[in-house]
Amino acid sequence: MYLGVDYYPEHWPSDMMDEDMDRIKAMGANTVRIGEFAWHLMEPVEGQYDFSYFDRVIEKLKERELKVIFGTPTATFPAWLSKKYPEIVAKNIDGKVYAFGGRRIYCYNSEVYRDKVEAIVTALSEHYKDEKSIVSWQIDNELGHEGSDQCYCETCHKGFQNFLKEKYETVDVMNRTYGTIFWGQSYNDFDEVPLPTETITTHNPSLLVDWAHFRSKSINDFAKLQIDILRRQIRPEQKIIHNLFGGFFNRAYDQNVLADRLDVVAYDNYPVWGGLEKPLSPEHIAMTLDYIRGLKNKNFWVVEELMGAQGHTVIGYLPRPGQASLWAHQAMARGCESLLFFRYRGMTHGAEQFCQGILDSDNQDNDKLDEVKSFFAQIKSNEGVYKSEIKGEIAVLYDYINRWAWAAQPQSEAFDIEKEILRFYRPFYSYQQMVDVRKLECDLEAYKVVCLPAMMVLSDERVNQLENYIQNGGIVIFGYRSGLKDLSNNIRFGCNPVQKLCGIKVKNYESLGNDVTVQVVTQVGDGHSFNVWREMIEPVEAESLCHYTDAFYKQYSGATRRTIGKGAVYYIGGGADDAFMKTVASDVLSECGIQHTQLPEGIECVVREGVRILLNHNAFKVSFDEIELKPFEVKWI
Ligand code: GAL
Repeated sequence: MYLGVDYYPEHWPSDMMDEDMDRIKAMGANTVRIGEFAWHLMEPVEGQYDFSYFDRVIEKLKERELKVIFGTPTATFPAWLSKKYPEIVAKNIDGKVYAFGGRRIYCYNSEVYRDKVEAIVTALSEHYKDEKSIVSWQIDNELGHEGSDQCYCETCHKGFQNFLKEKYETVDVMNRTYGTIFWGQSYNDFDEVPLPTETITTHNPSLLVDWAHFRSKSINDFAKLQIDILRRQIRPEQKIIHNLFGGFFNRAYDQNVLADRLDVVAYDNYPVWGGLEKPLSPEHIAMTLDYIRGLKNKNFWVVEELMGAQGHTVIGYLPRPGQASLWAHQAMARGCESLLFFRYRGMTHGAEQFCQGILDSDNQDNDKLDEVKSFFAQIKSNEGVYKSEIKGEIAVLYDYINRWAWAAQPQSEAFDIEKEILRFYRPFYSYQQMVDVRKLECDLEAYKVVCLPAMMVLSDERVNQLENYIQNGGIVIFGYRSGLKDLSNNIRFGCNPVQKLCGIKVKNYESLGNDVTVQVVTQVGDGHSFNVWREMIEPVEAESLCHYTDAFYKQYSGATRRTIGKGAVYYIGGGADDAFMKTVASDVLSECGIQHTQLPEGIECVVREGVRILLNHNAFKVSFDEIELKPFEVKWI
């Protein structure tokens, strides 16, 4: 188990290094991450590599038996590189070249950049190939984050056209798939296909999804280049990782592809950042952690766990005393098995002056340091628990193609895919169930219940597999719009296979904008509301769970259930409120024989190896079942 800090010794005078490392050791750390962003230090002049600075750092770390996670420095390149090769820099959607100064401004498809990356990563890993204190290599930093998933340069334009040529082989097939007959947009050649930059109205929805595929491939190919070099050079016991960021559903970047190539998935856990006035809700943080675990369906690492307020130009919420370590404990409870805090000390210069570290610019011991020390001590005393495997009985599935299709056409002003996933996740979380957040293609048989929120794009093949799964006793809960489109992001002509499976006919639908809700009543008379979206369902061979109350649509159902073989399928035809979703979740859990209880709001409970890990996310004391939890307290029972 690696516990430690992100340490950037190069930010500080060299004579501070010994004292820093002594303090890192004294806080209970056994590992530091170094190297990220230090390309200029390693190659100050083109082709002249110099790793002597990090040789010294590593020697000193070894003297203290501190292990190393080494980051390849490719997220920021030296100024000489873009001066000499300006074509490496990415262009934004307006066709403007990014200025040197930020980070991750390179184009993933630039041949020159890829060559330079290959050279530095090869030289670096060659230099350290016998260094046993390096336990892991992290490639780059948060690929695709901060808008770096997009680039609209000429190289990417050509690359996109070639990608389409490879995918469709002939332009006629592409024309037919896209339906370019509409608005007379048929192409004679792939070289006529535009970049999806600004146009009036919107681009073709199939083209937009293909663009996202292409962007995703660009990032994943770039990552693979580094992974392949490291695989050749390093020892097998050294883990290749990458630090994934939150907000992944909002990027043209399928992280599953990368996860398959990594040894361990690592995550940067920032429950609050920038100008946010309050942190993400506990269940939202939990869902992202469960997504990270789901990428490899294995335990993961957190290589950046916030310890203090963060922000570049605007700063937001300050984690309350004990709250940042509570989030670290939550990550551990949900499958993290090594954790590093970002960062040892906040920097007085540069763009991240307001990203707090454990220590601040006064360099004094403080409450954050105490929090980190007790966190490390508590984790070490429960180490065995955190090595154990986690397997949920409930799965909430997502799909990147589906996500990209929704991004092209959100259909409701209020639509947000992450909120839709959370809509299905939250009720099971509130019943203290461990939920696996997995990609659509995962093994269904591993679960008793499978939820598919807003799964608009779905193949016939997957619908058939879901049907078999239900026949054999599985329970599936579909969200609205499910099965509407094929994998090319076109509406199916004729029958929607999901509606057929659910025994329903969606007669019409309505997009509910921001702050619009409609009322539904259940069979037992409870009143609930739908937001974002609603569908007018005719339950042909299904039981209705609720119906609308407004004059024109009260004959229609809003949600249904159908028994099929040994299992059942639910269809929730709108953005149902939390109470409605909880009722569905409770019924489903009872049907599966899964015991479920609710704890007081803000209390999270995860059971690992018979140990109940209780986390109080509230800023106040909570008592229940003869247990008392102070604000932000964690207890093992
Ligand atoms: C992370 C990033 C770090 C640093 C940190 C500041 O997203 O990986 O390099 O920028 O945010 O909070």
